[in-house]
Amino acid sequence: MSRRPLIAANWKMHKVTAEAKAFVTALLPKIAEVRDRDVLVCPPFPLIASVDDARKGSKLSIGAQNMYFEEKGAFTGEVSATMLKDLHCEFVILGHSERRWVFGEGDELINKKTIAAINAGLIPILCVGEKLDEREKNMTEQVVLNQLDKNLKSVPEHAVASMIIAYEPVWAIGTGRNASTKDAKDAITLIREFIHSRFGATSAEKVRILYGGSVKPENMKQYMDQEGIDGALVGGASLDPESFAKLILY
Ligand code: PGA
Repeated sequence: MSRRPLIAANWKMHKVTAEAKAFVTALLPKIAEVRDRDVLVCPPFPLIASVDDARKGSKLSIGAQNMYFEEKGAFTGEVSATMLKDLHCEFVILGHSERRWVFGEGDELINKKTIAAINAGLIPILCVGEKLDEREKNMTEQVVLNQLDKNLKSVPEHAVASMIIAYEPVWAIGTGRNASTKDAKDAITLIREFIHSRFGATSAEKVRILYGGSVKPENMKQYMDQEGIDGALVGGASLDPESFAKLILY
């Protein structure tokens, strides 16, 4: 069975309204002929509505970079899944390493967010991956499996089939030091085997697993050529429409 490739832009804390609109206006004509893959932009919260407006009539999807698990209430500074749905978001990135290691998000919190996103009808893009010292101690498998085990606790089988998992080794994010295709492929095979054993064959076959970490137009194809790698989650190289279009058209 073939899974549709997904090329996702994570803008992180970059751009203002005019830049976001100019990006979408420049990108759309470059990818107008693309039919066989999904393209997603995850802007910062304040730019979601502008990107939604600029993408009208196109197949570009929108996602958010984070959310809180409660539906509403006294949670100053937080954003709920319902609010993201209201802005026409379809996806939400959860457990990104910057959330884990800059903002101290733990596995239990990420699990609650994952379940809340699914319940609200958002597709989670769950990020997992080891830090440099963990890789050097040969702990990659253990770390990734532990994150999956905790972050996907009580997630229903059917929801896993339609969600996205991104393998993002922390040492490769924003460093220009990308994982080798073998390392990326091995980790992604491990993730799919975990999904198989925990959620069954159908979920394992359907779940899309991305690689993320210093993906650039020059190395995109080598990842996409690997069996089991279904797309990329891209930070730095997704900020420029020219470069993002090259990634999409790999
Ligand atoms: P990068 O970021 O492409 O800039 O390494 C990837 C990510 O954080 O998702």
